[in-house]
Amino acid sequence: MKITLSVIKADIGGFPGHSQVHQKCMDVAGESLSKSDLLIDYRVMHCGDDLELIMTHQKGVDNKEIHKLAWNTFLEATKVSKELKLYGAGQDLLSDSFSGNVKGMGPGVAEMEFEERKSEPVIVFMADKTEPGAWNMPLYKIFADPFNTAGLVIDPSMHDGFVFEVHDVIDHKKVEFHTPEELYDLLVLIGATDRYCIKSVKTKKGEIGAVSSTQRLNLMAGKYVGKDDPVCVVRAQHGLPALGEVLEPFSFPHLVKGWMRGSHQGPLMPVNFKDAHPTRFDGPPRVIAAGFQLANGKIVGPADLFDDPAFDYARTKANYVADYMRRHGPFEPHRLPLSEMEYTTLPHVMDKLKERFKPIE
Ligand code: F6R
Ligand code: MG
Ligand code: MG
Repeated sequence: MKITLSVIKADIGGFPGHSQVHQKCMDVAGESLSKSDLLIDYRVMHCGDDLELIMTHQKGVDNKEIHKLAWNTFLEATKVSKELKLYGAGQDLLSDSFSGNVKGMGPGVAEMEFEERKSEPVIVFMADKTEPGAWNMPLYKIFADPFNTAGLVIDPSMHDGFVFEVHDVIDHKKVEFHTPEELYDLLVLIGATDRYCIKSVKTKKGEIGAVSSTQRLNLMAGKYVGKDDPVCVVRAQHGLPALGEVLEPFSFPHLVKGWMRGSHQGPLMPVNFKDAHPTRFDGPPRVIAAGFQLANGKIVGPADLFDDPAFDYARTKANYVADYMRRHGPFEPHRLPLSEMEYTTLPHVMDKLKERFKPIE
C-alpha cells in the first residue's frame, strides 16, 4: 500500500510571545483536519511557536488538495490567534491567496511517499528557533557516519551506503552525492549550513529514508518575518538505520543558527513534548522527536522519544553551552556575522556615522 506522509508546519502566532502554540489553535487545527475526507489519519502537534500538521494520505507529494487543506487549516488557526491577539498572528502565511502549493508561501514542508512495509516505524523531528541546515549534521551522522550508525558497517543491507540530495537554498539548485564514495565532497557543502541543506536521503535502490523542510522564510519574504523552523521525517529499521541510530546524533547538542531574533548561535537541545517551549533568551533552540508506527496509513503514536533519561546529559550539556555562549553577549560567534543576522541595525548606524569615517593614513 502506497502511503504519503506529509508534515506541514507554520507559525500562526505565539503564546506568549514566540514561545508556544495556544491549545485553542491546536484544537481548531484538529477540527479542520477531522472534517476532511482526503486524509487517512492526522496528528496536530507543536514545537515552540510552530503548529505542526502530520498527515497520511494516498495522494502523493506536492498534492494541491492536501496543501490547500493545510493552508486552510492554518487560516482557521490564525483566526483564533487573531481573536486572542496572540503574538505574530499569521506570521508565516505570506500571501492572502493560495497558489496550489504551500511551498514558497511561508509554511515548511517535508513529505515522502513509500510502499508501507510489513512494519513501518517513522520519526518526525520538529525544531524551533533554528533553520533547516540544523539537520545537516544529524542526517550526515545517521546515514553516513559509522561511528554513529553501526548498521553501516555490520548490516549487509546498509553496507552499500546512501544517496544524499543537497539543496542550495540561495541559488535554488540541487545536487546528489553517493556515500561513502563522495563523503568529503558532501561535507564541503553541508558544513555551510545556511546555504546547503540536505533535502532527502535515499538508499541506492531508491527507497526513501529521510526528508527535510528546506524553506528559507526570511529570504522568501525579502524581509524578516520569522525563522523557518524546520521539520524532518526519518524512516527507521529493517535496512534503514535503527530507531536508536536515528536518535543518537541528538545526544550531542550541536551549535545551530537561530535562537534570539534569528541572529545567534546556540546548542540544539533535545527535549520532551512538554518542554518544547523556548524561554531563556527565546531559546535555546530545541528539538522534539515524535515516534510513530504506521498501520495501513493509520498513525499509531506519537511516542515522546526524547522523554528519556538517556538524553539528560545532552540537555545538561546544552544548558552549559547555552550559558557559555550567552556570556559573549553581542559578540561573535554567539551573535551571527552581520551577513547572517535576521535583524540588523547596521545600515542605520552606518548612515549615522558616514560623515565621521576618515581614511586611515
Ligand atoms: C521568532 C524568534 C524570536 C523573535 C524575538 C523578537 O521566531 O525567534 O526570538 O525574533 O522574540 O521578536 P519581535 O521582533 O517580534 O519582538
Ligand atoms: Mg513566532
Ligand atoms: Mg518558531
